Amino acid sequence: MTSYVVALEKDVRDYSIVRSMMGDKPLVIWRGASGAINVWLDRCPHRFVRLSAGRNMGGYLEGVYHGWQFEESGKVMLVPAMQGRPAHDISATVYSTAVAGGFVWASEEECSPSGSAGEPCYPVHIAAPVDQVRLHVDSSVDHLTPWGVDGSMVYPTGDPAQRRAELSAIRRRLEES
Ligand code: FES
Repeated sequence: MTSYVVALEKDVRDYSIVRSMMGDKPLVIWRGASGAINVWLDRCPHRFVRLSAGRNMGGYLEGVYHGWQFEESGKVMLVPAMQGRPAHDISATVYSTAVAGGFVWASEEECSPSGSAGEPCYPVHIAAPVDQVRLHVDSSVDHLTPWGVDGSMVYPTGDPAQRRAELSAIRRRLEES
Protein backbone atom coordinates (compact mmCIF):
# COMPACT_ATOMS: atom_id res chain seq x y z
CA MET A 1 0.00 0.00 0.00
CA THR A 2 1.56 3.27 -1.07
CA SER A 3 0.46 6.67 0.11
CA TYR A 4 1.67 9.87 -1.48
CA VAL A 5 2.04 13.45 -0.35
CA VAL A 6 -0.20 15.44 -2.68
CA ALA A 7 -0.25 18.90 -1.05
CA LEU A 8 0.87 20.94 1.91
CA GLU A 9 -1.96 21.19 4.42
CA LYS A 10 -1.49 24.97 4.75
CA ASP A 11 -2.11 25.42 1.02
CA VAL A 12 -5.60 23.87 1.15
CA ARG A 13 -7.72 26.82 2.22
CA ASP A 14 -11.45 27.25 2.64
CA TYR A 15 -13.34 28.07 -0.57
CA SER A 16 -10.32 27.40 -2.76
CA ILE A 17 -9.10 24.56 -4.93
CA VAL A 18 -5.63 23.03 -5.24
CA ARG A 19 -4.47 21.01 -8.23
CA SER A 20 -1.92 18.26 -7.84
CA MET A 21 -0.84 14.88 -9.21
CA MET A 22 -0.67 11.36 -7.80
CA GLY A 23 1.59 9.52 -10.23
CA ASP A 24 -0.05 10.19 -13.60
CA LYS A 25 -3.45 11.01 -12.10
CA PRO A 26 -4.51 14.68 -11.97
CA LEU A 27 -6.07 15.62 -8.64
CA VAL A 28 -8.43 18.25 -7.34
CA ILE A 29 -8.00 18.94 -3.63
CA TRP A 30 -10.45 21.00 -1.61
CA ARG A 31 -11.43 21.59 2.00
CA GLY A 32 -15.15 21.28 2.63
CA ALA A 33 -17.37 22.91 5.24
CA SER A 34 -16.76 19.92 7.54
CA GLY A 35 -13.08 20.94 7.68
CA ALA A 36 -12.01 17.67 6.06
CA ILE A 37 -9.72 17.75 3.02
CA ASN A 38 -11.02 15.91 -0.03
CA VAL A 39 -8.73 14.47 -2.71
CA TRP A 40 -10.47 13.46 -5.94
CA LEU A 41 -9.56 12.60 -9.50
CA ASP A 42 -9.66 15.91 -11.37
CA ARG A 43 -12.31 14.74 -13.81
CA CYS A 44 -16.03 15.42 -13.71
CA PRO A 45 -18.00 12.18 -14.21
CA HIS A 46 -20.41 14.10 -16.47
CA ARG A 47 -18.35 15.27 -19.47
CA PHE A 48 -14.86 14.76 -18.05
CA VAL A 49 -14.12 18.46 -17.64
CA ARG A 50 -11.58 19.24 -14.92
CA LEU A 51 -13.34 19.58 -11.56
CA SER A 52 -10.59 22.02 -10.57
CA ALA A 53 -12.09 24.48 -13.07
CA GLY A 54 -15.19 24.59 -10.85
CA ARG A 55 -15.83 26.30 -7.54
CA ASN A 56 -15.45 25.26 -3.92
CA MET A 57 -18.70 26.47 -2.37
CA GLY A 58 -17.83 25.15 1.09
CA GLY A 59 -20.58 22.55 1.40
CA TYR A 60 -20.02 21.27 -2.11
CA LEU A 61 -17.86 21.47 -5.22
CA GLU A 62 -19.61 22.89 -8.28
CA GLY A 63 -18.76 21.72 -11.80
CA VAL A 64 -17.91 24.61 -14.10
CA TYR A 65 -19.71 23.34 -17.19
CA HIS A 66 -23.23 22.30 -16.17
CA GLY A 67 -23.19 23.24 -12.50
CA TRP A 68 -23.45 19.75 -11.05
CA GLN A 69 -22.93 19.90 -7.29
CA PHE A 70 -20.78 17.30 -5.54
CA GLU A 71 -21.08 16.79 -1.80
CA GLU A 72 -17.98 15.95 0.24
CA SER A 73 -18.57 12.20 -0.14
CA GLY A 74 -18.15 12.77 -3.90
CA LYS A 75 -21.79 11.98 -4.72
CA VAL A 76 -23.79 14.28 -6.97
CA MET A 77 -26.22 16.13 -4.71
CA LEU A 78 -27.82 18.38 -7.33
CA VAL A 79 -28.15 18.47 -11.12
CA PRO A 80 -29.55 21.81 -12.37
CA ALA A 81 -30.84 20.26 -15.61
CA MET A 82 -32.88 17.75 -13.59
CA GLN A 83 -34.82 20.43 -11.69
CA GLY A 84 -32.19 20.34 -8.98
CA ARG A 85 -32.61 16.66 -8.18
CA PRO A 86 -29.66 14.63 -6.86
CA ALA A 87 -27.97 11.79 -8.75
CA HIS A 88 -26.55 9.80 -5.87
CA ASP A 89 -25.63 6.87 -8.09
CA ILE A 90 -23.00 9.10 -9.74
CA SER A 91 -19.84 10.10 -7.89
CA ALA A 92 -16.50 11.76 -8.39
CA THR A 93 -13.54 9.39 -8.01
CA VAL A 94 -12.59 9.84 -4.36
CA TYR A 95 -9.22 8.84 -2.91
CA SER A 96 -8.43 7.80 0.63
CA THR A 97 -6.89 10.81 2.37
CA ALA A 98 -5.01 11.62 5.58
CA VAL A 99 -3.31 14.68 7.04
CA ALA A 100 -0.02 14.14 8.90
CA GLY A 101 3.14 16.13 9.48
CA GLY A 102 1.68 19.19 7.72
CA PHE A 103 1.17 17.19 4.53
CA VAL A 104 -1.96 15.96 2.77
CA TRP A 105 -1.55 12.30 1.86
CA ALA A 106 -3.62 10.24 -0.56
CA SER A 107 -3.79 6.70 -1.78
CA GLU A 108 -5.82 4.60 -4.18
CA GLU A 109 -6.08 2.10 -1.34
CA GLU A 110 -6.37 2.83 2.34
CA CYS A 111 -4.21 5.88 3.03
CA SER A 112 -1.43 5.29 5.55
CA PRO A 113 1.16 8.07 5.89
CA SER A 114 4.00 5.85 7.04
CA GLY A 115 7.23 4.32 5.85
CA SER A 116 7.80 0.64 5.19
CA ALA A 117 8.61 -0.01 8.85
CA GLY A 118 5.33 1.54 9.93
CA GLU A 119 7.15 4.59 11.30
CA PRO A 120 6.09 8.08 10.27
CA CYS A 121 7.84 8.87 7.00
CA TYR A 122 8.38 12.55 6.30
CA PRO A 123 9.23 13.09 2.67
CA VAL A 124 11.88 15.45 1.41
CA HIS A 125 11.09 17.92 -1.35
CA ILE A 126 13.80 18.57 -3.93
CA ALA A 127 13.40 21.33 -6.49
CA ALA A 128 14.66 19.21 -9.37
CA PRO A 129 12.89 16.87 -11.82
CA VAL A 130 12.46 13.19 -10.92
CA ASP A 131 14.77 12.05 -13.74
CA GLN A 132 17.58 14.11 -12.29
CA VAL A 133 16.91 13.11 -8.68
CA ARG A 134 16.83 9.43 -9.65
CA LEU A 135 20.52 9.67 -10.58
CA HIS A 136 21.36 10.48 -6.95
CA VAL A 137 18.79 8.46 -5.00
CA ASP A 138 18.40 4.69 -5.02
CA SER A 139 14.78 4.43 -6.16
CA SER A 140 14.70 0.74 -5.24
CA VAL A 141 15.03 1.90 -1.62
CA ASP A 142 13.45 5.35 -1.52
CA HIS A 143 10.20 6.10 -3.28
CA LEU A 144 10.13 9.01 -5.75
CA THR A 145 7.20 10.95 -7.18
CA PRO A 146 6.95 14.13 -9.25
CA TRP A 147 5.98 17.26 -7.35
CA GLY A 148 4.60 20.27 -9.20
CA VAL A 149 6.09 21.19 -12.56
CA ASP A 150 9.79 20.57 -11.95
CA GLY A 151 10.06 19.13 -8.46
CA SER A 152 10.31 15.75 -6.77
CA MET A 153 9.21 14.27 -3.47
CA VAL A 154 11.39 11.56 -1.95
CA TYR A 155 9.95 9.17 0.64
CA PRO A 156 12.92 7.84 2.59
CA THR A 157 13.17 4.42 4.16
CA GLY A 158 15.50 3.35 6.96
CA ASP A 159 16.53 5.44 9.94
CA PRO A 160 14.45 8.64 9.51
CA ALA A 161 16.97 11.11 10.98
CA GLN A 162 19.93 9.67 9.10
CA ARG A 163 18.08 9.37 5.80
CA ARG A 164 16.71 12.89 5.99
CA ALA A 165 20.22 14.21 6.59
CA GLU A 166 21.51 12.29 3.55
CA LEU A 167 18.64 13.46 1.38
CA SER A 168 19.07 17.04 2.54
CA ALA A 169 22.70 16.89 1.38
CA ILE A 170 21.54 15.57 -2.00
CA ARG A 171 18.94 18.31 -2.16
CA ARG A 172 21.52 21.01 -1.50
CA ARG A 173 23.81 19.60 -4.19
CA LEU A 174 21.05 19.41 -6.78
CA GLU A 175 19.43 22.73 -5.99
CA GLU A 176 22.74 24.60 -5.97
CA SER A 177 24.06 23.02 -9.16
S1 FES B 1 -19.01 18.37 -17.21
FE1 FES B 1 -19.09 18.65 -15.06
S2 FES B 1 -21.06 19.45 -14.75
FE2 FES B 1 -21.09 18.83 -16.86
